[in-house]
Amino acid sequence: MRDASTPLDMTVLALETSCDETAVAILRGRNGHSGSELLASEVASQVAEHEKFGGVVPEVASRNHLVHALRLLERATHAAKIDMSEVDAFAATSGPGLASSLMIGASIAKGLAIGFGKPYLAINHLEGHLLSPFFGEPEIKSNVSLIVSGGHTMSIFVRALGDYRIIGRTVDDAAGEAFDKVAKLLGFGYPGGPEIEKHARHGDPKRFDLPRSMLDSENFSFSGLKTAVRYLLPNLKGDFLADLSASFQQAIVDVLVRKAIAAAEKYDVDLVTVSGGVSCNQELRKQLREACKREGLDFKSAEPWLCTDNAAMIAFAASLRLQNGFESKVTEEIDPNLALG
Ligand code: KG4
Ligand code: ZN
Repeated sequence: MRDASTPLDMTVLALETSCDETAVAILRGRNGHSGSELLASEVASQVAEHEKFGGVVPEVASRNHLVHALRLLERATHAAKIDMSEVDAFAATSGPGLASSLMIGASIAKGLAIGFGKPYLAINHLEGHLLSPFFGEPEIKSNVSLIVSGGHTMSIFVRALGDYRIIGRTVDDAAGEAFDKVAKLLGFGYPGGPEIEKHARHGDPKRFDLPRSMLDSENFSFSGLKTAVRYLLPNLKGDFLADLSASFQQAIVDVLVRKAIAAAEKYDVDLVTVSGGVSCNQELRKQLREACKREGLDFKSAEPWLCTDNAAMIAFAASLRLQNGFESKVTEEIDPNLALG
């Protein structure tokens, strides 16, 4: 645990390079009960660079991380008005993600930690998402957490910081992946989630009866839904994009809401949280909030800018961990399949 000589305000610099977003953030974590303050958060997306290949190319991603990371480090320290030597700890995402991409952020953070003689913290990307609804707060309340992103869909029983039990996970596509694949079928751009949400706004969510898979399981499955859309498409004529988008979105929302509420009941928590790129979706946030209210549960979602990949959530997780006496060894390896908990 922390001793009396540890400074009260700890400034943490974090890097996130697990996939195709390079991000750097600086957070001043306040010990005690006053929360933390974000000093800088920089994100450089590589979406355009990978689009021409039809997906993320690991080799291209890691080369770009190296170029972007150094630029973002400078921008972040400038925005935070601090010198690198004033940072109290360095953190990086150590998994899950692309090995060669994770390696860039982790190597930079380790190098800085060694160079400045400061602690290093290896952070699980999923923990970053999972804690993001509490961003800036000093404490993590027990909750059932939904992480819905392009790479992951899972529900987790969170007892406390660092105490996580996976309840269910997708057996095939992640929710965001389903949004992206269906968007592609409909001729929309990438990332598909925001495009589908935009079209769904003027659509009828009841027009197409799409499957809600594995409703009685704690796991998730979205590939049947995507296939249902694929088989439906050749038979459709006229103006159907808005209605199909709305019906597809509603099918995903129905599954996520139902499983979140069931898990909250089973694990006897009074708080449901949601994070990850798909939790930017306004309809999902609205329907989750309403369902929680009906069931007498509290609901918390990450701010939209914190839902997609960023380093602020990694800095926040690192800051909470540091305040609670956690630290990593610089010899700790990155792990592309790093498990949560
Ligand atoms: O968390 P994230 O940035 O990356 C991963 O860690 O995977 O999530 C990206 C995913 C993409 O699949 C994207 O289509 C989805 O989040 N997404 C959305 C929305 N905004 C982003 N899905 C549905 N509705 C949105 N508004
Ligand atoms: Zn993510």
